[in-house]
Amino acid sequence: PAPGWTTTTDVVVVGSGVAGLTVALNVRRAGLRAMVVTKAMLDDGSTRWAQGGIAAALGDGDTPEQHLDDTLVAGAGLCDEDAVRTLVTEGPDAVRRLIAVGAAFDRDADGGILLTREGGHHRRRIAHAGGDATGAEISRALVAAVRSDPGIELIEHALVLDLLKDAGGHAAGITLHVMGEGQRDGVGAIRARAVVLATGGMGQVFSATTNPAVSTGDGVALALRAGAEVTDLEFVQFHPTVLFLGPDAEGQQPLVSEAVRGEGAYLIDRDGVRFMVGQHELNELAPRDIVAKAITRRMQEHGTLHVYLDGRHFGAEMWAERFPTILASCRAHGIDPVTEPIPVAPAAHYASGGIRTDLHGRTTVPGLYACGEVACTGVHGANRLASNSLLEGLVFAERIAADLTARHTAGELAERTVDVAAARADRPVPLLAPEARARVQHLMTTGAGVIRSAASLAATAQGLEQLAEEAHDRLADEKPADPRVETWEATNLHLVASALVAAGALREETRGCHWREDFPDRDDTHWQRHVALTAAPQGR
Ligand code: SIN
Repeated sequence: PAPGWTTTTDVVVVGSGVAGLTVALNVRRAGLRAMVVTKAMLDDGSTRWAQGGIAAALGDGDTPEQHLDDTLVAGAGLCDEDAVRTLVTEGPDAVRRLIAVGAAFDRDADGGILLTREGGHHRRRIAHAGGDATGAEISRALVAAVRSDPGIELIEHALVLDLLKDAGGHAAGITLHVMGEGQRDGVGAIRARAVVLATGGMGQVFSATTNPAVSTGDGVALALRAGAEVTDLEFVQFHPTVLFLGPDAEGQQPLVSEAVRGEGAYLIDRDGVRFMVGQHELNELAPRDIVAKAITRRMQEHGTLHVYLDGRHFGAEMWAERFPTILASCRAHGIDPVTEPIPVAPAAHYASGGIRTDLHGRTTVPGLYACGEVACTGVHGANRLASNSLLEGLVFAERIAADLTARHTAGELAERTVDVAAARADRPVPLLAPEARARVQHLMTTGAGVIRSAASLAATAQGLEQLAEEAHDRLADEKPADPRVETWEATNLHLVASALVAAGALREETRGCHWREDFPDRDDTHWQRHVALTAAPQGR
């Protein structure tokens, strides 16, 4: 069907984490109207779940140059140095502006911002809030700010479907499905002068992830369908220390922040051996990919499903004050970190790749911008440095707003003409049934997870192809899946999974968080480059 309703704004922002809300707040300063569209409630995305903090060279003796060095090392040769330089140079002031918006970070007795360490950082550089509830505090402050601005319209419970383009191929708005009541129920369209995607990650392509249920890769799927370039999808980061809840645990899993290791907790195996010692000069604080691989190897050697994180020496008071969220979530699952080591295992955590952008957040489709986890700005390379993600969302959101402001001031942010009635709001066709979600997750976890090979990736690709064929068959039998949120989500997961598997199969080397057991070495001769996709191989 064609969209049942249409509305108009200047800038439509899809997603309501640190990136999306920062764009909305900043374009308002130029007098532009903004509309924020989000799939669940405003604070239901990944930002709220961020524990460790936000990295920036704020400490005495620290410099953007040192932050740059650590980011480049973690990125394993694939970072865009200009993008990293932009991040680390603009980062400290961006954090100060976030504080001015109302985010309250933890302070020492003299009022200085307390800083912790995480993997890959050679210095204390991570600002945190509420001990281990940094994302929740940032989200609270930004949500309060957007709610108090009448020039920002908010549409919750709205799944973005596709990009609208004008005759010249410039982004002109979006189609979306609103799960509400009243005038804006069902499939509709928002016309806009520019579209900003800040939809977050795609962790739900795997069975177990730290990501919330809403992280279904909707932005990358939209971008692929819209013909925007997507890069580095094979670099999915597995967080080393996720609370192990059993072999069959599915969906969002509780994170145990790197900051716990940053404050001195040890990784030990079933025999109590600190197996990271001697593996890297930073021991437990090696970059995340190295720690996740070492844990996986130790689990394989011992035939165990997890290792342990030991922070018993912190004592009850420190656990309660410094890590109240983690303490509560461990205790809710029957584990007391004060008296026993925490069982942990790696789980899918962060998409280092995404929609390719330049330094102003511009994608390869004119008028379409992307920031936050959905984007690939080039700052993460093959492996994101811990706590650079909130910072990236903040810095590049500000840059997008600056670009839109400059275009607006120059009279270049024109209204777009688009035939909304002609937009196919029932795309993508064919839709996958909601049950396909669990099948995609199982296929991806089995064949495209922490360790990959040509054979495992081929088997996963074949399973994904089978799902596409089933959807085509249902269409041919005139029994297509209902166009509703669960079917669109399953379809988006399938599309991004297919693209990820294709990228992973192409990259015949091991680098950063892409681990090929059939190509165990880094190969700078052939693979010091990016895998860029402009359309996913999706069935037929
Ligand atoms: C954590 O707190 O360990 C997560 C930090 C991050 O993903 O950057």
